[in-house]
Amino acid sequence: MSSRIAVVPGSFDPPTLGHLDVIRRAAALYDQLHVLVVHNPGKEAMLPIAQRQTLLEQSIAEGGVEGDVIVAAWSMGLLVDYATDVGAGVLVKGIRSQVDVAYETPMAIVNRHLAHVETVFLLPDPAHALVSSSLVRQVASLGGDVSPFVPPAVARFLDTGARDI
Ligand code: PNS
Repeated sequence: MSSRIAVVPGSFDPPTLGHLDVIRRAAALYDQLHVLVVHNPGKEAMLPIAQRQTLLEQSIAEGGVEGDVIVAAWSMGLLVDYATDVGAGVLVKGIRSQVDVAYETPMAIVNRHLAHVETVFLLPDPAHALVSSSLVRQVASLGGDVSPFVPPAVARFLDTGARDI
């Protein structure tokens, strides 16, 4: 299995500037990067998976992310099954704080046991360290301006009220 292909998985509900920062960093480190929208059974979703995928594609294109970046969605089972299917040996996750370390560590260990897939943690730019999709969802649902926290494509989408789908 090649470690030069990596997957950046997440709910991306919606994508944030922190996500885009991690995607940009990871794209520079690997030959091919799969940005994968995954259903998280532990979270109630705001946006349909297909919408999140579209917003990621637009954000990556408009953000000038360089490299071989594929955006896909996965709701067919284990994340590591997707990684194995595309020949990826690495999952890349952004770590903002010790809270993220505590949340991500068990998943990293389980994924390594399941399929020998390693997890690499990247530190985002501190400017994005406090941004989360859940906060963006809350601010957007209450009519606040989320444009400082999300890529322009996401801000446009949320601003039009198209989130009421
Ligand atoms: O952005 P999130 O919600 O923190 O991402 C979590 C996600 C979707 C990557 C995680 O829930 C996941 O990997 N789900 C797929 C199901 C799976 O493979 N579970 C076993 C390993 S944790």
